[in-house]
Amino acid sequence: MITVDLPAGPPEPAEPPVLSRWWSEPQSWTLASYLSHRGYQGLKAALRLPPAEVIELVKTSGLRGRGGAGFPVGTKWSFIPQGPGTTPHYLVVNADESEPGTCKDIPLMLATPHLLIEGVIIAAHAIGAEHAFVYVRGEVASVVRRLRDAVAEAYDAGLLGRNILGSGLNLELVIHAGAGAYICGEETALLDSLEGRRGQPRLRPPFPAVAGLYARPTVVNNVESIASVPSILRNGTDWFRSMGTERSPGFTLYSLSGHVARPGQYEAPLGITLRELLDRAGGVRAGHTLKFWTPGGSSTPILTAEHLDVPLDYEGVAEAGSMLGTKALQIFDETTCVVRAVARWTEFYAHESCGKCTPCREGTYWLRQLMRRMESGDATEDDLQTLTDITESVVGKSFCALGDAAGSPIMSSLEYFRDEYLAHFPGDGHPGGCPFDPSRA
Ligand code: NAI
Ligand code: SF4
Repeated sequence: MITVDLPAGPPEPAEPPVLSRWWSEPQSWTLASYLSHRGYQGLKAALRLPPAEVIELVKTSGLRGRGGAGFPVGTKWSFIPQGPGTTPHYLVVNADESEPGTCKDIPLMLATPHLLIEGVIIAAHAIGAEHAFVYVRGEVASVVRRLRDAVAEAYDAGLLGRNILGSGLNLELVIHAGAGAYICGEETALLDSLEGRRGQPRLRPPFPAVAGLYARPTVVNNVESIASVPSILRNGTDWFRSMGTERSPGFTLYSLSGHVARPGQYEAPLGITLRELLDRAGGVRAGHTLKFWTPGGSSTPILTAEHLDVPLDYEGVAEAGSMLGTKALQIFDETTCVVRAVARWTEFYAHESCGKCTPCREGTYWLRQLMRRMESGDATEDDLQTLTDITESVVGKSFCALGDAAGSPIMSSLEYFRDEYLAHFPGDGHPGGCPFDPSRA
């Protein structure tokens, strides 16, 4: 058992990076390194407060869920019923990061696993949970190992287990590896998978806050949401709200990928624009121009160069006709065939459809067939109408968000780039196919 020495220090700057500040520090994943940077001070502050006050603090901060939907974190915690007869409660961290383009939680867990563990203990204290689970995407074995090592260190230091830091709080934390199904990132499919069943979405309501893991009240939060909590406990809600916007306060991780000079994670206040982020990332690759991009992974409608100045917060992106989602900004320059990109995403959603409901199971199959024909140049204008009809039969009519996600790139690409679909059809002396293919006659 090692002694936890919780250091004090000057106020922290009210500007990002907060989450990624120590990522390049040698051995940043160890408890010793984490403690040397105010690690577990947020927990110490939380343990001095009654659980209801911790929830109130997180509510006042305005922290919104970073997994994609942006639901207020403190509000979600407040749904957990308290009092005799309501326990056990569970906390489940959704670390099944799988949305195409989304790659923020994995580096966070690799670099600073104790930041997540500290957030877990604070959240468990707030909602009255004695068992917590981190459900990690199965393919990332290195993350599972890193988290398990950090959990072992935390147990040895008295930060997990019984009577944490002498506070009377008990918490067991389990790191669970999924088996590689995208649908298990949907919170209720994740819970089924954690219970040992085939991961398929459940009907909501009841939401997990009412009947979640083993039908008990459960909070399911994303990794980044939980990892944002310790800094709020350390620095207060005014500090947090001094960053970002009124309705989307705080800082967040934006993941830039694709045709960008320096792809990677860029931590910034919510409300920054893509233009500003591209400045930091060296711009679109040399000699090329932006054609289209996703604000939050492939399930969010694509946007174009017209939207470079849209504030990247929940409201700004919604006003532009898309969603902030996971803040996975995939950048495509003018050399990209939009039909090809959308066909790849459609393959993904058809492959990952869990098959539970007919609109998505059958619809994504036909969307994939049609997108293949669009790309190869075998489609006709009638097929384009069929593509639209089937997309409309899937979006809003499927059991879970995967159906909507599958339709979203198709609908938005048709809105902005319908001519590019038409350019794939035979005509003007060419046999059809991708106009970006130099071998096309
Ligand atoms: P949602 O809006 O249905 O729910 C968000 C959260 O709020 C859930 O935890 C839900 O239980 C809770 N909630 C909502 N209404 C509630 C109520 N009345 N009472 C109690 N709890 C309530 O969104 P959903 O379907 O959970 O997530 C969709 C998002 O996930 C998409 O926006 C997408 O961006 C994102 N996503 C993220 C992925 C990733 O790899 N991180 C993968 C795929 C999608
Ligand atoms: Fe399964 Fe797709 Fe239906 Fe969701 S929408 S339940 S992934 S078949």
